[in-house]
Amino acid sequence: MSGVPDALRADGAAVSGAARRLAAGGLVAFPTETVYGLGANADDVGACRRIYAVKGRPPDNPLIVHFDSIERLAAAVGALPPLGQALARRFWPGPLTLVVARPPGRLEGAAAGLDTVAVRVPSHPVARALLAEAAVPVAAPSANRSGRPSTTTAVSVCEDLARAAAAGIDVSDIVVLDGGGASFGVESTVVDVTGPSARILRLGALGIEDVEGEAGPVAEGGDDHRSPGTRYRHYAPEVPLWLFEADADSAAVVRWIQARGGVAAILATAARAHHIEALCGDLPVRARVRSLGGAHDPDGEDWARDLFSSLRWLDAQGADFALAELPWARRGRLPAVRDRLLRASAGRFVPVENI
Ligand code: TXA
Ligand code: MG
Repeated sequence: MSGVPDALRADGAAVSGAARRLAAGGLVAFPTETVYGLGANADDVGACRRIYAVKGRPPDNPLIVHFDSIERLAAAVGALPPLGQALARRFWPGPLTLVVARPPGRLEGAAAGLDTVAVRVPSHPVARALLAEAAVPVAAPSANRSGRPSTTTAVSVCEDLARAAAAGIDVSDIVVLDGGGASFGVESTVVDVTGPSARILRLGALGIEDVEGEAGPVAEGGDDHRSPGTRYRHYAPEVPLWLFEADADSAAVVRWIQARGGVAAILATAARAHHIEALCGDLPVRARVRSLGGAHDPDGEDWARDLFSSLRWLDAQGADFALAELPWARRGRLPAVRDRLLRASAGRFVPVENI
């Protein structure tokens, strides 16, 4: 589509150009180890407002501010509380976001009116080089249009910018840096350290057990005020999505598909994907099946890496409805994968008995 930028390979010259664009009030989409972000100077309220317009994001949902180093972060928000320091020392740079008190007058563009701010130091080399050269704090939500699956490739960023352009928003001057596929694939774990104990506001790439190992027992979930992002519809493909549990009977799932009629697009772990394909072939039931997760994936690293591109794949199949297997929430990234699938499906399950 005209007016939609092409992605630039993130070499030194492209990163320098993008850093200048950020410092001058422009928008830059860039890779992080979790997902691609859409960034602007967090102290520039007008630039941040543009992020909300391009994403179609509700104005009361605050943004995460990214820094290239803990030193630069501390210069913007002050010393971290002790719990925050312990977590930061252990996990930064990396997929941890801390919610801390916000110094009055700072990082306004990211705060959505709150007196706290979410901050993180990403580990992706392109993100770090960009943040270091721009030398400004960078507010960056995931680069998807609001409500859609997050962006784990530059291609998916450009897809969603095309959607913004189709909605009449000028995106032609946005720089998109292509640094390859995001290696973690789900967003950072958001931890509130403003109180006496840590609270996980969003499950993410850093496991609950990792946070607890450093911060002691953590509470999970926040109220609407503490965790504004969690009240919105999220991550959803356009095709209606149903889930089934990892112990559901495949034959019963396929009978449900047959009774429903039409073409199904299905995400399932490899062994089950083959089984479902065979069952569909026997009946016959029309289905497109894609396997998700590795054969041995106890921490959900493979699931997480492919999750959002798989949700986008569902929409490309011309299917009437979609199904996805829900992994057990064991450890590592699996609780985050479960959380994203539950939100993407609005908690809808195929009505079959589990075995
Ligand atoms: O991995 C990530 O975190 C990616 C990359 C680009 O860094 N960013 C990301 O941003 O996922 P976004 O905007 O899609 O999600 C930010 C989450 C939302 O749930 C938002 O409500 C929450 O962080 N958040 C931001 N500021 C907050 C604050 N002050 N208090 C509580 N939650 C906050
Ligand atoms: Mg997001």
